[in-house]
Amino acid sequence: MLIDTYGRVATDLRVSLTDRCNLRCTYCMPEEGLQWLAKPDLLTDDEIVRLVRIAVTHLGITEVRFTGGEPLLRPGLVGIVERVAALTPRPKMSLTTNGIGLKRTAAALRQAGLDRVNVSLDTLRPDVFKTLTRRDRHKDVIEGLAAAHDAGLTPVKINSVLMPGLNEDEAPELLAWAVEHSYELRFIEQMPLDAQHGWKRDGMITAGDILASLRTRFELTEEGSEERGSAPAERWVVDGGPHRVGVIASVTRPFCSACDRTRLTADGQVRTCLFASEETDLRAALRAEGPENSDENIARIWKLAMWGKKAGSGLDDPSFLQPDRPMSAIGG
Ligand SMILES: C[S@@+](CC[C@H](N)C(=O)[O-])C[C@H]1O[C@@H](n2cnc3c(N)ncnc32)[C@H](O)[C@@H]1O
Repeated sequence: MLIDTYGRVATDLRVSLTDRCNLRCTYCMPEEGLQWLAKPDLLTDDEIVRLVRIAVTHLGITEVRFTGGEPLLRPGLVGIVERVAALTPRPKMSLTTNGIGLKRTAAALRQAGLDRVNVSLDTLRPDVFKTLTRRDRHKDVIEGLAAAHDAGLTPVKINSVLMPGLNEDEAPELLAWAVEHSYELRFIEQMPLDAQHGWKRDGMITAGDILASLRTRFELTEEGSEERGSAPAERWVVDGGPHRVGVIASVTRPFCSACDRTRLTADGQVRTCLFASEETDLRAALRAEGPENSDENIARIWKLAMWGKKAGSGLDDPSFLQPDRPMSAIGG
């Protein structure tokens, strides 16, 4: 298993399938100029499936989340999902996506064995969407969400980031809409992971701001901690239920002591945390000749990497340095 020196056990694997994306969200990517990973550096579909197999059979991983960049841009996605679904034991499998193209692929992904999706949507206003993402694709996301729901990729969760001066007033509107469509909405505090290094703690919309804004329209009752488990989202029952809303307060109320995640970048590096300053290379072992390439050796390297996981993200430390890679390259 993947245990660290603080006794935390990682059972949840986030796999980035590509660093490329068809949106340019201001809090994540620059408008242009980001250097893409070179094709030969990317893991192949076979390499990804092999690493997931090792994680599931040797390291106790029970949940796999595909992300990116935008994972729907990976041509082999449906095949990867199908092969992971055939593993024993079969992990739970989900996808974090911007929803563009999901209209076309949702049914095939469900059939291949995907359990559910998280779709990112920050606004219900097409003009604000265009400003936030620098692309005019709002309609595609809305259609993607509906297709995911119809295909049974449920519960369909929505991830929203609120940005000052852009969509900060939209929390109640987003929640009313999510309740109406039976989507589960979660707000994520903006983290310092943008490529431009423009994040400012003073300017960000906090979990406290979001809850205060939601309470102008809804009655929220906090869910018990047993129900939360190691999930990053704190959840509130909306107007007596059954709907819930989540807030992931990565900055103001970090959940590092309960973290159960390990991350794999699209170029085969293990990261213990989004904010880690170090990565551990699995690709070299995967591509080596001889005993270095064995499942046991790859599992050993992965275990060693996770053993060194730090106690926290370091965000509260005055010496905190933003990771070199932006969120799109780490895999969100
Ligand atoms: C990096 S994206 C990758 C997957 C996919 N392209 C998507 O849009 O969901 C994953 C999630 O990270 C969130 N995200 C990206 N940059 C962020 C930041 N600086 N702070 C908080 N969340 C961020 C996005 O809003 C999205 O919900």
